[in-house]
Amino acid sequence: MNIKEILNWRYSTKEFDSSKKISNEDLQKVKDLLQMSPSSTNIQPWHFIIASTEEGKKRVAKGTQGFFSFNEPKVMNASQVIVFCSRTGADENYMQHLLEVEDKDGRYPNEEIKQMVYGARNIFANMHRYDFKDLQHWLEKQVYLNIGNFLLGVAALGIDALPMEGIDLKALDEEFKLREKGFTAVAAISIGYRNEEADFNSPSKTPKSRLPQEEIFTILD
Ligand SMILES: Cc1cc2nc3c(=O)[nH]c(=O)nc-3n(C[C@H](O)[C@H](O)[C@H](O)COP(=O)(O)O)c2cc1C
Repeated sequence: MNIKEILNWRYSTKEFDSSKKISNEDLQKVKDLLQMSPSSTNIQPWHFIIASTEEGKKRVAKGTQGFFSFNEPKVMNASQVIVFCSRTGADENYMQHLLEVEDKDGRYPNEEIKQMVYGARNIFANMHRYDFKDLQHWLEKQVYLNIGNFLLGVAALGIDALPMEGIDLKALDEEFKLREKGFTAVAAISIGYRNEEADFNSPSKTPKSRLPQEEIFTILD
């Protein structure tokens, strides 16, 4: 599929075919997508909980009770559901850890460049921590960027997805003890394969709708 076909093929899948599972090979590509997303200053403030089994999905479904129960079948019938978690802070230990991983990956030809990147990353983090006072929000924005990257990426693999903000994030934090670990849940994404027949939202039944290009672009000549 070319990019236009992928953009039109993907849609928020509301009915998954529970009999179809993502292969191990494709699951590895899914993990690669999650790992390789860009983030500001390469801060990568994320963690992902991937549930494949009934038991695992039931744990994630603790976030789809009560008001959020409309999303429960989308969790339980999916092949996998992924909880996207954001760091709640970026302390010195974490900044050093990032630097060491980058060093090991061969990013730094010398100590001077390494320290320059360390300084630059801290300037950005401190700008959000102190000047804008939105460090946690900034970190979560990076996780949303990962979500965007992920939605297009899985579609390119022919995998359907449903992003869910309609989920009890506090319940997920509690279930997976995320806050104690310095994280908080920001959204979940179910992945698998569409049940075209059953899904009212499939593009063949409910065409996609977007604001027209004349409205959303200002083209400077
Ligand atoms: C961050 C985010 C959260 C969403 N949360 C939900 C949700 O909780 N439940 C749901 O059924 N759809 C959810 N959606 C789906 C959107 O309604 C859908 O992406 C939008 O209408 C555009 O349609 P499309 O994804 O089919 O192109 C969410 C989408 C995004 C990007």
